[in-house]
Amino acid sequence: MPTLTVEAPAKLNLTLDVLGRRADGYHDLNMVMQSVALSDTITLELGTGGPLSVRTNLGFLPNNEKNLAAAAALALQRETGRDAGGLSIAIHKRIPVCAGMGGGSSDAAAVLRALNGALETGLDPLELARLGEQVGSDVPYCVLGGTALAQGRGEVLTPLPSLPRCAVVVCKPSFSISTPELFRKVDGVRLRCRPDTAGVLSALEAGDLGGVARRMYNVFEDVLPHRQGAEVRAIRNELVQQGALGACMSGTGPTVFGLFSEREHAEAARESLSQSYRTVWLTETI
Ligand code: C5P
Repeated sequence: MPTLTVEAPAKLNLTLDVLGRRADGYHDLNMVMQSVALSDTITLELGTGGPLSVRTNLGFLPNNEKNLAAAAALALQRETGRDAGGLSIAIHKRIPVCAGMGGGSSDAAAVLRALNGALETGLDPLELARLGEQVGSDVPYCVLGGTALAQGRGEVLTPLPSLPRCAVVVCKPSFSISTPELFRKVDGVRLRCRPDTAGVLSALEAGDLGGVARRMYNVFEDVLPHRQGAEVRAIRNELVQQGALGACMSGTGPTVFGLFSEREHAEAARESLSQSYRTVWLTETI
């Protein structure tokens, strides 16, 4: 039985702006997205002859079609009429879960890419990204990866010049955040501060890492409950204190990350944050 092993890289939001609520209940977004090397590893076994199975190294994650990786495999087979002849999916998770780093979406996207090749569906990357919309709003971006502008629900993608390669420290505080609840909160307030998305696009065009990092902003930071907002700010401040060019919360959080031009500064930031937080990674942009 053929076995495939693929990497599913995490994503970060360099910017995240919510433009408004739509009639379908989703929100129109404007986000600059970036892939980082921190990845889950996915092993697919095709032709098992059995029902679809999914397992992970984290016991609390779903092992049925509620797992986005399984949902993606089912969607691809349904939409293309191709059949893997029984599929088993094993996921080794490294990307923090429920963290705003797109771990589940990236797993789904990696399954789509791998099965698309193995089953020779003939779908091109854009068609595959469109299929990913059925699985989740961040899946289309994760199919393409790199540096990109994501608009609409998240599925309208424009590739951007790559962010100059840099070290990234990510730190996930232990509290968790409900994505639908944060969206509801944003609906109920007038946002005081918005990211300078146009400025980030110009800085990317100019290959200006500092210019991007200085302008990073996520509107969800403004609607976090008081104590959680304070914790996010404290992590952001620590990253900058340690030499980050800029720092920001990713997605609906709670992960906070900083971009570093100097590897030693990033290492110092990881050391320092590791004293207070269990989930701290030093990674790099890809
Ligand atoms: O598409 P996905 O299942 O990842 O979205 C999870 C939740 O996030 C949705 O149910 C919705 O509450 C919210 N969401 C939104 N607007 C988006 C993306 C997500 O309101 N563009």
